[in-house]
Amino acid sequence: MYIYIGIAFLLILLYSLVIKPFIQLLLIKIKFGNQAKMIFFPIFGDIVEIEGSYKKYNDHYASIKKYFKENKDLKFLLLNIFNIPFIFIGDPEMIKQIHTNHDSFRKIDFLNNNSRLMGQGLLFQYGQQWKNQRKLLGRPFDFDKLKARIPMMNQVVKLKLANNNYQNPLDLTRSIAGEVVIQTFFGKEAENAQLNGREAQSEIVELFNDITEAIYGSFYGFLKWMIIGEKQWKILPNKKERNINRRIEELNIFARNVIDNRITKIQKEGFKKNQEDFDFLDIHLQELLDEKNTTGITKEEIISQFITLFFAGTDTTSSVAAMCLFYLAQYPEIHQELLKEIQTVIGDGDVLDIHLNKLQELNSFILEVLRVRNPASGPLVRVANQDMLIKDLHIKKGWILMPANFVQQQNDKYFQNYEDFDHKRFLKTQVVKNDNGYVNIPFSAGPRNCIGQHMAMMEIKVILCHIIRNFKVTPVPEKMKNLKWKAKFLYFHEPLDCIQLIRN
Ligand code: HEM
Repeated sequence: MYIYIGIAFLLILLYSLVIKPFIQLLLIKIKFGNQAKMIFFPIFGDIVEIEGSYKKYNDHYASIKKYFKENKDLKFLLLNIFNIPFIFIGDPEMIKQIHTNHDSFRKIDFLNNNSRLMGQGLLFQYGQQWKNQRKLLGRPFDFDKLKARIPMMNQVVKLKLANNNYQNPLDLTRSIAGEVVIQTFFGKEAENAQLNGREAQSEIVELFNDITEAIYGSFYGFLKWMIIGEKQWKILPNKKERNINRRIEELNIFARNVIDNRITKIQKEGFKKNQEDFDFLDIHLQELLDEKNTTGITKEEIISQFITLFFAGTDTTSSVAAMCLFYLAQYPEIHQELLKEIQTVIGDGDVLDIHLNKLQELNSFILEVLRVRNPASGPLVRVANQDMLIKDLHIKKGWILMPANFVQQQNDKYFQNYEDFDHKRFLKTQVVKNDNGYVNIPFSAGPRNCIGQHMAMMEIKVILCHIIRNFKVTPVPEKMKNLKWKAKFLYFHEPLDCIQLIRN
């Protein structure tokens, strides 16, 4: 009797974990033929593909890029995450549909920590709350407000470059980007903040990397992620998970203290006289402390937004700036061209807002780096809220989608001589072939595009101008020999010190 129950149980398990998703994907493959590629690995799914690519090519994304390069008709990959179909989409028309109908999806809590980290911030919010937050946040991201931050950006970059105490270029750019975020959004209360014994900006990035590692780099962590969700951190936490719990607690206390200190200051001294001088915290606290509070914003939301901005504003920008340095080291002739442009447009002084539009070569260089290797290699994966049709592909509620843009960015269907690193392509009027506006979108597109994109471009330009004028950027040959491309939270090279900055 028990044997039959056991066998029935195993069969049900086999059906729901393996056979059902396999058949769902297979039917799509049969319908779409050459336009779809099926890569099914029971239970472990896409992780097997990505780790396999790393083993074979020293690059987590190489195999996926290869599929799209080799098959020009390929529109999407059919993978699985555990027992759920996972569609990795490369077709720009389908990507457009996903980004324009953003309300039909939810972003996956890939760090399994949304109630303690970014869950209530702009990146993960939906519906009216997302609209309210985006409107409130629009003010500190207004272009004129950002322009006023350029002198501060120059100061931070010069100070950090003078300090000269960094283990690698990413360490340096992270320290700069974190400080700029602090001064732009949170003010004096958060300056020089230390968490877990290091600069707050480094700790937040490392914390997120360690969470990623604890989930995706461990069988135990991954199974817990799939089966019990966010309870992973409470139920039978191992040493790594306990350490992460402690650090998340510390980060929350820090954010809460910064906010409470500002509230105390406002209660004593009132708000700043000129609304033009309001930073992120002032704008949000004005809403919170107002009796009407029409957006219904809560302190918990502000804490979550704080963590979102700290993370989104630091890790992405610093990784792109450091990736630019990586390519400068590979192409010294481009370094010379950019130097010439910077000397002609700016001379020896600070970067001013009037210079930004004139730095055409530099702008094109950053765009080319974002085309070739954008560390924020795509938006977050999404879950369908309902059954739907994306072009002619039937998607069921609960299926997972990745509107990936990095596969189009390196494909001759869209870019001429796509394998060449040629920043001058962005100086031409028509850069992208067959463009529907959703091919080259390093900052995503549609209503949920990156709210910080102008700030990021400004900041990267300021960082690069100072470095290009004052440093040689060179590869370290013995480290370059073992170069690997790893997707942790962001996609970046290892070792981090394979290039170096040498002061002129
Ligand atoms: C080069 C640097 C940057 C890159 C490549 C980048 C990329 C992106 C991408 C691809 C998205 C879409 C995510 C998705 O929909 O799943 C996004 C959204 C977002 N980014 Fe950025 N980002 C950068 C810098 C920044 C900065 C400096 C900030 C803020 C200080 C920021 C804040 C945000 C926020 C809050 C969102 C969510 C917007 C929403 O859902 O309405 N980003 N970013």
